[in-house]
Amino acid sequence: MQIFRTQDYQAMSRKAANIISAQVIINPSSVLGLATGSTPLGIYRQLIDWYNKGDLDFSKAYSVNLDEYVGLSPDHEQSYHYYMNENFFSHVNFAEGHNYLPDGMAKDIDAECARYDKLISDLGGISLQLLGIGHTGHIGFNEPNAAFDKMTHAVDLHPKTIEANARFFASPDEVPKQAITMGIKSIMQAKQILLVANGAEKAEILYESLFGPVTPAVPASILQLHPNVTVVADEAALSVIMQHHSEAVSR
Ligand code: GLP
Repeated sequence: MQIFRTQDYQAMSRKAANIISAQVIINPSSVLGLATGSTPLGIYRQLIDWYNKGDLDFSKAYSVNLDEYVGLSPDHEQSYHYYMNENFFSHVNFAEGHNYLPDGMAKDIDAECARYDKLISDLGGISLQLLGIGHTGHIGFNEPNAAFDKMTHAVDLHPKTIEANARFFASPDEVPKQAITMGIKSIMQAKQILLVANGAEKAEILYESLFGPVTPAVPASILQLHPNVTVVADEAALSVIMQHHSEAVSR
């Protein structure tokens, strides 16, 4: 695992965007595993910037997102379909039909999960998976005590996650209580993983995830067992790790 420390959010975004760019330049038909939340927004902005300068071409690339809320249609402003279109897809040149997210409106959720797994496998697997980390240590929407051997599945969201995401909705009651998410096993099958984090409120969970015991109680801790993980985080998010393991952190 390689851990990069950046001065601030902007530098974190630029460094992570560089890693994604390199992936697309080396292999234009890469399958990018993408994430939502507030953390990756700066990465998408940076990629759009480089695309506008003519330095990047997504025309042969594919994307598969980690998760989607159950019950939100793609045109709902808080759906992850909407987020991805608004913040990334509509600004760059992915080919029509190359961007995938789970369908939160599917009538048969189990069939939708199976379809999503098959889709990822038909694409040849994920070249690079971008991940944020939730306050509970969740990745995608794999909440504490999720089984490590799950592929895409439906989950009940943790009350802390509902609370954290309530800021995007008019009231906490409107936050969906369920989501479809790639499972830990799906995430672990990605060839490369890029975990990003910023801000002091992620410092403790980042330390537990990367240096604590590998346990379903901290879903992100499984990443310690992946052979190709890069972590890019700002100083605030790395503050606890710097106290205990500064030798493991590169600038
Ligand atoms: C959501 C997403 C996660 C994301 C997490 C953290 O719950 N499903 O993929 O990592 O939020 O969000 P933020 O980056 O806003 O802290």
